[in-house]
Amino acid sequence: MISSRLLQIAMLVERNKVVFDVGSDHALLPCFLVQNNIARKVYAGEIAEGPLNHVKETVKKNNLEGKVIPVFSDGLAKAADDVDIVIIAGMGYHTIKHILDSCEVERYQYFLIQSNTDVDMVRRYISDHCYTIEDERVVYDDFYYQIIRFSADYHEPYSEMEIKYGPVLLKRRDEVFIAFLADSLKRLKEINERANKKEYDEKILEIERLLYN
Ligand SMILES: C[S@@+](CC[C@H](N)C(=O)[O-])C[C@H]1O[C@@H](n2cnc3c(N)ncnc32)[C@H](O)[C@@H]1O
Repeated sequence: MISSRLLQIAMLVERNKVVFDVGSDHALLPCFLVQNNIARKVYAGEIAEGPLNHVKETVKKNNLEGKVIPVFSDGLAKAADDVDIVIIAGMGYHTIKHILDSCEVERYQYFLIQSNTDVDMVRRYISDHCYTIEDERVVYDDFYYQIIRFSADYHEPYSEMEIKYGPVLLKRRDEVFIAFLADSLKRLKEINERANKKEYDEKILEIERLLYN
């Protein structure tokens, strides 16, 4: 079984589409998408030879040749023309930015992004390019992860609060998002007991307002 983080990403993939998973590593997600009839076909992209061999082994072991296709590629550089949905997960913001900067975002129906760092910077990137955040999820899988679905459709730039916390998450206010905010607040208070900084005080107030107003 795949992790809750990868499962949540899989749940945001529309059925019967062709997917490109950038930085597939173990290829668990591509195999899951095909084995559960979610995706028609998945390209499992890798920039490094070791993980690419890992992808090939997983594909062979699961008899998914022709359904999960290993691709040696920096980001989407070698993406075929039939790709609908792009997944970029388990990487830091700077790698994600490099991948987005180097591709034609308009070519794809939408992207699913799960950044391990600086999720607000991902949203700022989307906002600066006037792209649209179509959906967002928070998932707990030992840590809290945020998943963003965005497309190249036009959207006016998002507000600072939307960039920090997510426009869809702020609107939906589901249980996991509230738990994530409460956890962030607890951590910030612990840090600020030692650091005692004004910027932390302001952030603490901001999260308290979001939680209790
Ligand atoms: C930590 S793994 C994440 C695996 C999987 N996507 C997940 O979320 O569990 C990151 C993988 O991305 C690959 N990677 C890093 N930069 C890349 C790039 N520019 N293009 C393709 N793959 C890349 C690395 O080789 C590594 O295997």
